[in-house]
Amino acid sequence: MTLETTFFNHTFANPFMNASGVHCMTTTELVELEQSNAGAFITKSCTLNERAGNPEPRYFDVPLGSINSMGLPNRGFDYYLDYALNYEKQQTQPLFFSIAGMSAAENLEMLTMIEKSDFQGITELNLSCPNVPGKPQLAYDFEATEDLLQQVFARFTKPLGIKLPPYFDLAHFDQMAEILNQFPLTYVNSINSIGNGLYIDTQKEAVVIKPKEGFGGLGGEYVKPTALANVRAFYTRLKPEIKIIGTGGIRNGQDAFEHLLCGATMLQIGTELHKEGPKIFDRITKELEQIMTEKGYRTIDEFRGKLKTI
Ligand code: FUM
Repeated sequence: MTLETTFFNHTFANPFMNASGVHCMTTTELVELEQSNAGAFITKSCTLNERAGNPEPRYFDVPLGSINSMGLPNRGFDYYLDYALNYEKQQTQPLFFSIAGMSAAENLEMLTMIEKSDFQGITELNLSCPNVPGKPQLAYDFEATEDLLQQVFARFTKPLGIKLPPYFDLAHFDQMAEILNQFPLTYVNSINSIGNGLYIDTQKEAVVIKPKEGFGGLGGEYVKPTALANVRAFYTRLKPEIKIIGTGGIRNGQDAFEHLLCGATMLQIGTELHKEGPKIFDRITKELEQIMTEKGYRTIDEFRGKLKTI
């Protein structure tokens, strides 16, 4: 029995990765992911220039998950590209490189630099950060998303995936899938956090994070049903060449199994990685193997996408 997963012409030992933003801001954290049992890993979404992000406290663990408004703190594009190029000198396994420019122009500038560089891995264009004051999540604007992707693919020829926010309406799944199917995307990553939730400390009668008067993206157990719906909706609507990375509410082997059943190929873990650290990859791979053994599956391909309806 094996968890091996083929994605972008490469076979990874298992489908598990960190979600961008968790345990991937510094090279120290990235090296810890390299050394962990994650099948693959991704860098923190970066901007052209280093950003301090939003004021603290900006991440808070809550009983059913997490709320955050980090505001894209990162060390800047060059820091992550240098790391990626160094990594590629020593490793053959593809690295995922996440970018989240403050504007279409900034995204295009970073993509042009990646295109011209020796980077051989996979780029993730994050169109869904809910935490930058004054900057709505681009992927909620369908026209702007289509326009940006047209400009992107006019100049970018390397493998590219996009990170999407959750959608909540079947008409929106249809519209977004119709747009995405026009482009040679390597993958769609569904979902980013559910934007702009509000968690309240009842005793203090106060919010728990400082930015945006306490509004922040929700992750963890809260978001799993929404994440599964988005994975399923895109798996059943996108052309088969566009793979799905399932992100949202993966805490254990059963959650991972459900994402795979909905059609995900790779799986990203955010909130639970933040809580447990990289050793989560040891636990969760064992749990998924156990479920597959109990069900008599030898490979993930035997059940991927095969969710039954009634
Ligand atoms: O606020 C943040 O840095 C989060 C980014 C994201 O959710 O993509």
